[in-house]
Order: sequence, then C-alpha cells, then structure tokens
Amino acid sequence: MSSPSATLLKLAAVFLILFTLVESDDSNRGHRKVCIVPSCKDGSDDAPAVLRAFEECGNHGRVEFLNETYYIESIMNISGLNDVEIDLKGTLLWGTNITYWLNNSMPMGYQNQSTAWILGGDRISFQGHGYGTIDGNGQVWYDFIKGASNYPRRPHAITVYGTTNSIFEGLRFVQSQMWTMTVIHSSNVLLQDIYVSSTSNSSTSTVNTDGCDTIYADNITFHRWEVHNGDDGISPKANSTNILVTNSTFIGGAGLALGSIGQYNGVFETIENFTATDCLFINTTHAAYLKTWTGEQVGYPPNGGGGGIGYIKNVLLSNLTIHNVELPMSYTQCINFAGASGNCNSSLFKISNVTFSDIQGTAKQEPIVSLQCSAAAPCVNTTIEDVAGLALTNGTLMKGYDCDNTVGTFGFNCTGHTCDKASGDGTC
Ligand SMILES: *[C@@H]1O[C@H](CO)[C@@H](O)[C@H](O)[C@H]1NC(C)=O
Ligand SMILES: *[C@@H]1O[C@H](CO)[C@@H](O)[C@H](O)[C@H]1NC(C)=O
Ligand SMILES: *[C@@H]1O[C@H](CO)[C@@H](O)[C@H](O)[C@H]1NC(C)=O
Ligand SMILES: *[C@@H]1O[C@H](CO)[C@@H](O)[C@H](O)[C@H]1NC(C)=O
Ligand SMILES: *[C@@H]1O[C@H](CO)[C@@H](O)[C@H](O)[C@H]1NC(C)=O
Ligand SMILES: *[C@@H]1O[C@H](CO)[C@@H](O)[C@H](O)[C@H]1NC(C)=O
Ligand SMILES: *[C@@H]1O[C@H](CO)[C@@H](O)[C@H](O)[C@H]1NC(C)=O
Ligand SMILES: *[C@@H]1O[C@H](CO)[C@@H](O)[C@H](O)[C@H]1NC(C)=O
Ligand SMILES: *[C@@H]1O[C@H](CO)[C@@H](O)[C@H](O)[C@H]1NC(C)=O
Ligand SMILES: *[C@@H]1O[C@H](CO)[C@@H](O)[C@H](O)[C@H]1NC(C)=O
Ligand SMILES: *[C@@H]1O[C@H](CO)[C@@H](O)[C@H](O)[C@H]1NC(C)=O
Ligand SMILES: *[C@@H]1O[C@H](CO)[C@@H](O)[C@H](O)[C@H]1NC(C)=O
Repeated sequence: MSSPSATLLKLAAVFLILFTLVESDDSNRGHRKVCIVPSCKDGSDDAPAVLRAFEECGNHGRVEFLNETYYIESIMNISGLNDVEIDLKGTLLWGTNITYWLNNSMPMGYQNQSTAWILGGDRISFQGHGYGTIDGNGQVWYDFIKGASNYPRRPHAITVYGTTNSIFEGLRFVQSQMWTMTVIHSSNVLLQDIYVSSTSNSSTSTVNTDGCDTIYADNITFHRWEVHNGDDGISPKANSTNILVTNSTFIGGAGLALGSIGQYNGVFETIENFTATDCLFINTTHAAYLKTWTGEQVGYPPNGGGGGIGYIKNVLLSNLTIHNVELPMSYTQCINFAGASGNCNSSLFKISNVTFSDIQGTAKQEPIVSLQCSAAAPCVNTTIEDVAGLALTNGTLMKGYDCDNTVGTFGFNCTGHTCDKASGDGTC
C-alpha cells in the first residue's frame, strides 16, 4: 500500500502528464497564426495584401480570405509554404490588363509557358468549401488570342510548384486565362471536388484552356472534378507517375490526354501508372487519348519540337461513360509543329501496357479506337474489353478498330488502318 503522500505525488504526476499533453495539443493549435486578408474594396490591386498574409502566416499558419471579391492585378509568387491552411470563401478575380500580364507572367517551368500565380510548399491545405472561386476573367484572353495556339506569355491561372503532402479541395476555377492548373515538381497531392469552367460566351476559341496538367509529378490524385473547357481535361505530361483520376466529369473539351510528350529532342520522359476510373465524358473529343511528338524536331516548344524519347506505360482506363464523343479512344504519334504535317512513323517514344475496360455510351462516328503508332516504335500490349455496348448516337452498335503498328492486341482485332495525318486524331 502506498502512503497518502505517495498517492498524492502519483496523482500530481498524472495530472502533470495530462496537463502537459493537453497543453502541447493546445499550443500546436494556438501557434497556428491566422492572417485574414483585407480587401481594398475599391477595385485596386489586392495582390500585395495576399502576399503579405502568406509572408506572415506561411509557416504553421492559416490564411483566410473573406467572402468578398479580391482584385488580383499583379503576379503572385508564393512558395516555400510550410504547414499552411488556406481558406477561400470569396472570389479572387484576375485583372484584364493584357499588356501587364504579357510583360510580367512568370515562367512555369516547362514548354516556355507562363503563369499568373505560383503557389507551393509542404503540407498546404487549400479549402474552398465548394464556393471559393478563382476567376481568371478569361473571356478577354479568348477574344484577344484569336485562336492562336500557346500564345506567348498568355498566363496560366495557377501553377502548383514544388508542392508535397498537400490537399486542394472544394475550389471553383472559372474563365481561366489559359491552362487552369499545372502541378509541377510535386508529389503526394490530393485535389478533390474541383469545378473548372472555361467557356467562351462569343464564338472565340478556348484553345489551351486545359483543366489540369501534371509535369515532374508523382502520386497526384484527382477525385470528383468537373471540367467544362475547350482543351485537355486532365493531362499527365513529362514524368508523371502514379496519377489517379476518379469520379470526374468532362464536358466539351478533349477528355483525358496522356501527353503530349516527346517534345524535347533526345530528352527522356515518361508517363507511368496512370489510372482513370468511374468518369463521364459529354461532348468531348475523346474519353482518353495518348499523344506523342514525331521523331524529328521541327521548331521549338511550345508550338514546335519533337524527337523526344521515353515511354508511356501501365495505363488503366476503366468504367468510362461517354455521350456524343467524337473518337472514344486514340493514340497518335503524329504531334508536330503547328500547321506542319509530320512523319507519323518516326517517333521512338514507346507506348505499352494500356487497358481500356468497360467503356460505354455513344459516339458520333466510327471507329471505337484509332491506334496510330509509329513504325519506328510500335505500341505494345493494348487491351480493349467490355466495349460491346458502345453505339453511334443513332443507336447502331460500333465495330471499328483502326490500328497501325500495334503489337499485342487483347480483347479485339484490328479492322482497318488509321488516318495518317498530322492532327492524328483519326477523325478524317
Ligand atoms: C457571400 O456573400 C454573398 C453576397 O454578400 C452572399 O449572397 C453569400 O450567401 C455569401 N456566402 C457565404 C458562404 O457566406
Ligand atoms: C496596363 O499595364 C501596363 C504595363 O504594366 C501599364 O503601363 C498601363 O498603365 C496599365 N493600364 C492600365 C489601364 O492600368
Ligand atoms: C500519395 O499521396 C497521398 C496524399 O494524396 C498520401 O496519403 C499517400 O501516402 C501517398 N502515397 C505514397 C506512396 O506516398
Ligand atoms: C466513386 O464512385 C464510386 C461508384 O459510384 C464509389 O463507389 C466511390 O466511393 C467513389 N469514390 C470517390 C473517391 O468519390
Ligand atoms: C524524367 O524521368 C526520367 C526517367 O526516370 C529521368 O531520367 C529524368 O531525369 C527525369 N527528368 C526530370 C527533369 O526530372
Ligand atoms: C508503377 O506501379 C508499379 C506497380 O504498382 C510499381 O511497382 C512501380 O514502382 C510504379 N512505378 C513508379 C514509377 O512509381
Ligand atoms: C461507373 O462510373 C459511374 C460514374 O460515371 C458510376 O455511377 C458507376 O457507379 C460506376 N460503376 C461501377 C461498377 O463502379
Ligand atoms: C452536348 O451537345 C449537345 C448537342 O450539341 C447539346 O444539346 C447538349 O446541351 C450538350 N451537353 C452539355 C452537357 O453541354
Ligand atoms: C500493366 O499495367 C497494370 C496497371 O494498369 C499493372 O497492374 C500491370 O502490372 C502492368 N503489366 C506489366 C507487364 O507491366
Ligand atoms: C506484353 O504482354 C506479353 C504477354 O502477356 C508479356 O509477356 C510482355 O512482357 C508484355 N510486354 C510489355 C512491354 O508490357
Ligand atoms: C447510323 O449511322 C451510321 C453512320 O452514319 C449508318 O451507317 C447507320 O446505317 C445508321 N443506323 C441507323 C439505324 O440509322
Ligand atoms: C481475333 O481473331 C482471331 C483469329 O481470327 C480469333 O480467334 C479471335 O477470337 C478474335 N478476337 C476477337 C476479340 O474478336
């Protein structure tokens, strides 16, 4: 038996331990400094206040935006964040001074492309609650570029750069200036419940309004995206590994695009372990397509290039539902300098182990698939299964499998050749 004083001591010790635990828990939370970003309200540039908030609260902190409109009239380069919560209830609205953006947009690290906003760090949690909005005011850009592909220094909406162990959720991106988002030099990032809409209210083109591109990125997960746009929906490019897309809807753009890749002469790049499941495609060009540049370099990125090497392998596309799609599934190794027609048989870029499984719905025309592979590097092992229900919009079941230079076809036999042309999308 312990003496009463010993018992008291023990109790005191227990209290001390409990108190210490509680306090350390509290102090963790207490040390999260909160910065609420003030808005100018008079339409002048709110970007300096945003930058100040991240400087002050970018390390174990929290940056909150009010339910107000913030006018972003200048570039924002916010990197090296560490354990930060970002809470967006209002709207960040980008300015329309085209001269300013063309002079100041920042390099985003690939293809000579540039961006209006760089955001990066470790353990970022960016919450938009389903209504926090990033509005690129893109209509001025859709009108300004007059359909020009990759207009030099036209800014992307956001570049998630050098980011690890982070989550972006409940955000709405509307009328992005160009590509909505790129995740680059990043790993272990989850992006969920994201709405993207970049559509033109005039007849002008929404070319290059990609939803999200991944580059030098590993373990990036997309759940429940909805993308209305005029170009690639989600597009893994150079060195994208372990990319997962689920439960997402793509309307009006190109669908899932693996590539383009192989744009840099002699440079080795890969796309490995890409999976997309349970997705819906409405009025898109494709459900999924794989695209590589030709084997010869013509011009320079972003619009020119070619001659790259490497591989795309281990791709699984399953349970995709399509409505009124042009060409459900496709490979092309014909990507070439804009306007030039290239040699579709020269690419050394290797495509292997791709499975399309359980694809259902309607397409505008034959074929089910167009596999245009380079004679210099035939595609190896393509599986297409459970597509028997695919029909044309008039109800007639589809039957065409167009192929060139494919080795190893599982679940189907080729029925004809592809349309060898520079656009390479088989729609001739
Ligand atoms: C944000 O403010 C607008 C206009 O003041 C209001 O209609 C809306 O309900 C607010 N949203 C939230 C989530 O508070
Ligand atoms: C637009 O930006 C340019 C270049 O930064 C600047 O000279 C000009 O004054 C701006 N125009 C307006 C209307 O703010
Ligand atoms: C992949 O990223 C997720 C966060 O989205 C993380 O939970 C998971 O541990 C990562 N996987 C690996 C193998 O690092
Ligand atoms: C995706 O949808 C499937 C089928 O509806 C469901 O079982 C799964 O939980 C969903 N996953 C996510 C991440 O939303
Ligand atoms: C891309 O991946 C390849 C193959 O793993 C590697 O050799 C190359 O260095 C990577 N490139 C970059 C820029 O990380
Ligand atoms: C791709 O996935 C396979 C099987 O899960 C794994 O062994 C391989 O390491 C992954 N590749 C990369 C580049 O992570
Ligand atoms: C297939 O995906 C759709 C969403 O496009 C989903 O509703 C359905 O539950 C999925 N089917 C299976 C078997 O998971
Ligand atoms: C798809 O296209 C058809 C025909 O152009 C149109 O009627 C329909 O509204 C479009 N659907 C969506 C979701 O945009
Ligand atoms: C083919 O890819 C699948 C994932 O889609 C993977 O599970 C399988 O191991 C790969 N097969 C080979 C031979 O690499
Ligand atoms: C292609 O499939 C065959 C038969 O399953 C297998 O032996 C071979 O390793 C596969 N090749 C590639 C590159 O996946
Ligand atoms: C559906 O359209 C295709 C291609 O235009 C045509 O060949 C076929 O006969 C049509 N089927 C019916 C039932 O009208
Ligand atoms: C492909 O053709 C071979 C040889 O004619 C035949 O045995 C096989 O059943 C066909 N496969 C399919 C999926 O139609």
